[in-house]
Amino acid sequence: MTTTLGRPASGTGRLITLWTLSGLVALTFIGAGGAKLAGAAVMVDLFAKVGLGQWFRYVTGLLEVAAGIGLLMPRSAFYSAVLLALVMAGASTAHLTVLGTSPRRPVALFVLTGIIAYLRKPKHRQIKDQNMIAMSVIVGSTRQGRFSEQPARWILQHLQKRDGIDARLLDLRDFPMPFFDQAVSPATPGRAPYENAVVQRWTAAIAASDGFVFVTPEYNYGPSAVLKNAIDWVYPEWNRKAAAFVSYGSALGARSVQQLRETVIELQMAPVRSSVHIPVATLWAHFRGGDVDKGLAELETQAQKMIDDLLWWAMALQTARKA
Ligand SMILES: Cc1cc2nc3c(=O)[nH]c(=O)nc-3n(C[C@H](O)[C@H](O)[C@H](O)COP(=O)(O)O)c2cc1C
Repeated sequence: MTTTLGRPASGTGRLITLWTLSGLVALTFIGAGGAKLAGAAVMVDLFAKVGLGQWFRYVTGLLEVAAGIGLLMPRSAFYSAVLLALVMAGASTAHLTVLGTSPRRPVALFVLTGIIAYLRKPKHRQIKDQNMIAMSVIVGSTRQGRFSEQPARWILQHLQKRDGIDARLLDLRDFPMPFFDQAVSPATPGRAPYENAVVQRWTAAIAASDGFVFVTPEYNYGPSAVLKNAIDWVYPEWNRKAAAFVSYGSALGARSVQQLRETVIELQMAPVRSSVHIPVATLWAHFRGGDVDKGLAELETQAQKMIDDLLWWAMALQTARKA
């Protein structure tokens, strides 16, 4: 599986046209800008007639070369095209008003750079928005001396290495919510938003995510109360999103994950099959000041498999939610 941003096949012809046009226009500007910088006689004469001084030739030459190169890079192409269109608008005006010559060439370049700017801007934004996947890693314990933060940061680092993924940590210590005490359940259709500011912030963080990794301890054969409470405060924002689990405990936290799987199904989420269950030895290393990183590194294969599955579901569900 790859998480690399893709482009629709139907856009191939459009892309070839765009790259050909950008390449030709870029070469034109790099050539003209280079001639200005090199002090070609025709350019020196031209700028002498404009009357602003030869420094203006250097500035224009530099802009044309830089923006010409920028046209060839997808990230800067739009801005470079806009800049060059502005330069050509200025050049056209100078030809008409100061030089008294035909503005045919700058006008043609103004039109071409305008077309490139138009083609670049909407396409670029659309691809990014359609493909970025927001993943949240939830730290499931707020206890002093907790272990959960270490595997959470480890999984976060792995997520951040994937293309097209916007990954963040949601630490329940940053969301100190009261125990759920509302008259109306979160699943009630059309209910008013809850008034608690922390709950609102938590709900917004869930709404902004396409998938989740729950990093959970096992407390008395289940997840921690603080994690369950955080889950209970939200409903529609969890719906139709993917969930994966990292757990630990004397039985590797498996019983806690089992309960969470049932809970997230009730939240209309898709729990993925693969998970990471951290062996007791690594948990003990945490309490004894041992090498936790080494223990986590041994789980690399499981972690990558889980992330592959999670991202597949997160992308599929994001697409389905948008349809
Ligand atoms: C209230 C409580 C209940 C626990 N119950 C279990 C349990 O049922 N099974 C288990 O494997 N470990 C259990 N433990 C041990 C935890 O797995 C261990 O303390 C772990 O470090 C807790 O995660 P944390 O450090 O991220 O808070 C329990 C710990 C606490 C504090």
